[in-house]
Amino acid sequence: MKAIAVHPGKPNSVHLQDIPEPTLDKFPCGHGVLVKVLKVGVDATDKEINDALYGNSPPGDDFLVLGHESFGVVLEVGDKVTRVKPGDYVTATVRRPGGSIYDKIGTYDMTSEETYYERGINLLHGYLTEKFVDHEDYIVRVPKGLKHLHVLMEPMSCAAKAVQQAYEVQRRMKVWSPKTAFVMGAGQIGLLTSLILKLRGLRVLTFARSEPPTLSSEIISGMEGEYVSLARESIGDVVKRVGKADLIVDATGSSNVAFDMMNHLGHNGVLVWTSITGGSRSTEIHSDRINIEWVLGNKLLLGSVNANREHFESGIKDLALGEVMYPGVISKILTHPVDGLDQYREMMRLLVEDRSALKVYVNVASE
Ligand code: BGC
Ligand code: ZN
Repeated sequence: MKAIAVHPGKPNSVHLQDIPEPTLDKFPCGHGVLVKVLKVGVDATDKEINDALYGNSPPGDDFLVLGHESFGVVLEVGDKVTRVKPGDYVTATVRRPGGSIYDKIGTYDMTSEETYYERGINLLHGYLTEKFVDHEDYIVRVPKGLKHLHVLMEPMSCAAKAVQQAYEVQRRMKVWSPKTAFVMGAGQIGLLTSLILKLRGLRVLTFARSEPPTLSSEIISGMEGEYVSLARESIGDVVKRVGKADLIVDATGSSNVAFDMMNHLGHNGVLVWTSITGGSRSTEIHSDRINIEWVLGNKLLLGSVNANREHFESGIKDLALGEVMYPGVISKILTHPVDGLDQYREMMRLLVEDRSALKVYVNVASE
């Protein structure tokens, strides 16, 4: 069957690869689920893998099947499977466990090992193909009523984890009721994070470069957020207007912005970094000033990567609530479909060149 793959380490090697069809025999334990792929989303990580800045092939293969944002329908299940049944819509988690204690208890997103296994990214093939099989523990059911949001489940899980982690670490405060959040970046993760924080009742300011109106600014207003264009107002001016933030989530892909935000966090606050910056840029910071302010203000910096089953499930619940609160707004993120695996070049072109693309995804098959 067809798959979209790259040769990791070789820039711009995206190509169509022929791979064997998976079967349930891979899971003699009876817990296997065979999924027909309907749609797969791509993001900056796929671009970085194709730029040879990131990612590795599975041992023994010289190619890596791309795709970690999956949406499909269950075709067949092993005799022990209880989580899903044929006909269910599903997505799948990305990381698979290594050997640490965290991996063993289902929190593989928190592995303490240097090596991590991620489908479509590192050491495991991804979902940009016709079918895949996996253990039911990694298959997450998508409600029928959210079918139209298909490939957003995985990005939403990463946003859900970032916010959940922030609240989790802030239990150090005994009482923490954040009022103002800054979300840096109005790409998919920025938008979905803004949604989650709005649903939690915060005042959310989402920062982006472009001047409104843009699709992102429209989506932010649609979810009662505040869109701030950095072309119109500096972060310093915003801070003068609304004060420093209790919570900042950076989702810009720019390490420069990630560090700069250390200047704009309030006392006892938390700054969350979510971007995978595969490049080699460096940035200058006022380290003495930041050091003293962070010590005197008990501030916290938190990195957040990937997501486990729990975050997929909570993300899906927030998408459902988001649809009820702000009907029709979230699906506006799904901007750029490409029809069929054969269109892999067009998929990459949109990802690299089209600045208006909030979400590029491949319509792999219909039901
Ligand atoms: C994916 C995550 C993954 C991360 C690092 C992101 O694009 O969405 O699931 O953990 O890249 O590889
Ligand atoms: Zn991703």
